[in-house]
Amino acid sequence: MPFLADRLSRVKPSATIAISAKAAALKAAGKSVIALSFGEPDFDTPDNIKEAAIRAIKAGDTKYTAVDGTPKLKEAIIAKFKRENGLTYSAKQITVGTGGKQVLFNAFMATLSAGDEVIIPAPYWVSYPEMVLLAEGTPVCIPCPQETGFKLRAADLEQAITPKTKWVLLNSPSNPTGAAYTHAELKAITDVLVRHPHVWVLTDDMYEHLVYDDFKFVTPAQIEPSLYDRTLTMNGVSKAYCMTGWRIGYAGGPEQLIKAMGDVQSQSTSNPSSIGQAAAVEALNGPQDFIPRNNAEFKTRRDLVVKMLNQAQGLSCHTPEGAFYVYPSCAGLIGATTPSGAVIKNDEDVINYLLDSQGIAVVHGAAFGLSPHFRVSYAASTELLEQACTRIQKACAELTLKEAIAA
Ligand SMILES: Cc1ncc(COP(=O)(O)O)c(C=O)c1O
Repeated sequence: MPFLADRLSRVKPSATIAISAKAAALKAAGKSVIALSFGEPDFDTPDNIKEAAIRAIKAGDTKYTAVDGTPKLKEAIIAKFKRENGLTYSAKQITVGTGGKQVLFNAFMATLSAGDEVIIPAPYWVSYPEMVLLAEGTPVCIPCPQETGFKLRAADLEQAITPKTKWVLLNSPSNPTGAAYTHAELKAITDVLVRHPHVWVLTDDMYEHLVYDDFKFVTPAQIEPSLYDRTLTMNGVSKAYCMTGWRIGYAGGPEQLIKAMGDVQSQSTSNPSSIGQAAAVEALNGPQDFIPRNNAEFKTRRDLVVKMLNQAQGLSCHTPEGAFYVYPSCAGLIGATTPSGAVIKNDEDVINYLLDSQGIAVVHGAAFGLSPHFRVSYAASTELLEQACTRIQKACAELTLKEAIAA
């Protein structure tokens, strides 16, 4: 009898964590490495949020809380949904977990039975299909290529829906592409969903605040109120509030679903950290002025990275609306030969070549379900990004492209 459970054979470990580990090992061995593989802002948590956590510790808020969130945090989340998204929820419609990741996991564990399908536009955040598989569901991935801005088209969604579809998972702005849906683009998607009342909508709005060029963020239940009763709107403080380590995510949705998710959480981790929750109250209720300041910096970095990657031989980089990632195509490098004579066969070869030759750590598109691309995180200083892109340009210039070999 095997010791490990069957379910583990269905999932693979996170590729982003694996690349970061390889980069760290090279660095420890003395190589100059620039890691652009991380999914977190390089800015520190604002002081007012840290101070709220310190106050909570001193006040003795160090005990178990209600499993799915303190009343104070739920109140702050209800006010946030109302203020920013025009969505009205009661406390029983709100759940808080240990990061957005746990909220998603709870939702799948609470609703998926073997064979239930979850539609996932690709490229996707690495954890989506793996979580669905762990919960015994079936991921149904729809390719969304660069030509359509990495966005799901209504006709493709319509075609993918079957009687077994339980959820459609939307993520705007997206990890790994930064693509965000405009009102009109999202309306086309929600129009399809209105016609399929058995399909639920799970929207991962984790990067809501990280949008540039006056882009206006919208979320499905806001655009199409008739979907409210079958939409789980997930969000969190990890990205915009620079709080990845604090582990607080949340969602609003129908009471029955929220209760079931709380039941899953009550038998796994119980409440998220009491101190993290106190900090999240301050994040949501406190000053928001650092967000546009950070965004101005992110926009400058995005523009620099897009420009420099487009100057690299064999790369083509789309300008995304938000998040802190770009997802350049490396189709032009496939079939190329490296200075040591190796042939680049796929995007994994590309990222290994960038890491081995120039010490640049990025993540291959295959990990996100759409090749040949790689993901660059621009949550790093402008100086570092400039250096990194110069090294990427050099690495690409040193390849002999397939056409040159043929000629
Ligand atoms: C799209 C997306 N959703 C959810 C998460 C999870 O966020 P958290 O750190 O709050 O668990 C991430 C983190 O990388 C993400 O990129």
